[in-house]
Amino acid sequence: MDSISLIRPDDLHLHLRDGDAMRCVVEDTARQFARAIIMPNLKPPVTTVRQAEAYRERILSCLSESSDFQPLMTLYLTDNTAISEIKQIAENEHVHAIKYYPAGATTNSDHGVTDIEKVYPLFEYMADLSIPLLIHGEVTDPEIDIFDREKVFIEQTLLPLINRFENLRVVLEHITTSDAVAFVQNGPETLAATITAHHLIQNRNALFENGIRPHNYCLPVLKRESHRQALLDIVASGHPRFFLGSDSAPHAREAKESACGCAGVYSAHSAIELYASVFEELGVLDKFEAFASFNGADFYGLARNTGKITLEKVEWVIPESFAFADSEIVPFLAGEKCNWKLKTV
Ligand code: NCD
Ligand code: ZN
Repeated sequence: MDSISLIRPDDLHLHLRDGDAMRCVVEDTARQFARAIIMPNLKPPVTTVRQAEAYRERILSCLSESSDFQPLMTLYLTDNTAISEIKQIAENEHVHAIKYYPAGATTNSDHGVTDIEKVYPLFEYMADLSIPLLIHGEVTDPEIDIFDREKVFIEQTLLPLINRFENLRVVLEHITTSDAVAFVQNGPETLAATITAHHLIQNRNALFENGIRPHNYCLPVLKRESHRQALLDIVASGHPRFFLGSDSAPHAREAKESACGCAGVYSAHSAIELYASVFEELGVLDKFEAFASFNGADFYGLARNTGKITLEKVEWVIPESFAFADSEIVPFLAGEKCNWKLKTV
C-alpha cells in the first residue's frame, strides 16, 4: 500500500503551552488533526471556564486564517475546584473535560489534587452532567518504584473510583503498562484510555541507549518491552475504548538537556505519521482509522469529523530541531527515518 486516506483524526491528549512557545507548535497539530483535547497544565493552570475560554481564544489567534482546527478545552482539577465550575462546563460548548493530576505527579502539577477523596463530591456532579474525568494515573508516593506507579495507581485509586462512580466517564491517559491495558479492557463501557505514539514505539531501553537520552523521557516513564507489547496488542485488536492521544509535550532543549531534565516528549510534528508506521508494522492499517478518528470522538460524544487526510508511503528524515520561542525543541526520533508522510493539500 503506498497511500492511505482516513477521516481527519483527533488528538485526544495534547500540550500546546502558551504564548510564543504555543505559536511555534500549534500548526504542527492543526495540519494533521481536526481537533485536540488541550491539557490545562499551564503556569498557572487553567482552573476555570473563563480561563479556558481565554486560553482557547489565544490558541485560535495563533492559527492561520485557513485553519479550521478546533481546540477542545479542559479544566485542571484542584482541591478548590468549585461545583459552580462543573455546572458551567455542562453549559459551555468549548470545555469538554476535567483533568485530574495527583499533586506533584508530573510537569506543572503542583496545583493538583492532594487527596482524591476531597474531590469526590465533584465527581457526583460530573457523572450526572456527563463530563469526562481525564486521569494522569500515577501515584506520587516516593516509596513506590517509578516503574510501578501506574499499576499501583490503578489498584489504590482507580479501582475504588470506578466502583464508586458507575456513571462517571473516565479516560486513563497515556497508558504504559499491561496492567492498564487489562484494567481498561475488562472495565466498564464508561472507561477508556489514550495511547501515545512514543509508548507504542519505544521501551525503557530507549532512555539509556549509549548514554542517557533526555528527549525520550516523559511521564509516565517508558516501560519494559512486555508492556509495550501489550499496548501494541490492544491497538491491533481494534478495541473501541482505546484511542489516539499523543501527549506531545514540548520543552525547550535546555530544559530537557539538564541535570534535572523535564518530562515530556515532543511528537506533534509527525504524530499521525508515527502512529501510521506502528499500525503498518503490526499489519493492521485497517484498524488505524478507528483508533485515530472514531474511537475518541465516540467516547467523548462528539460528531465524527468529515474531511479526510492522506498519508503517503514516503521515507523522510525527522528534523533535528525546531524553533521554540527563544530556544528550540528536539522532536521525538530527531534525525531518524519515518516512512509515512502527510500529503499537504
Ligand atoms: C507533560 C508536560 O510536559 O506537560 N509531560 C509528560 O511527560 N507527559 C505532562 C504530562 O502529561 O504528564
Ligand atoms: Zn500529558
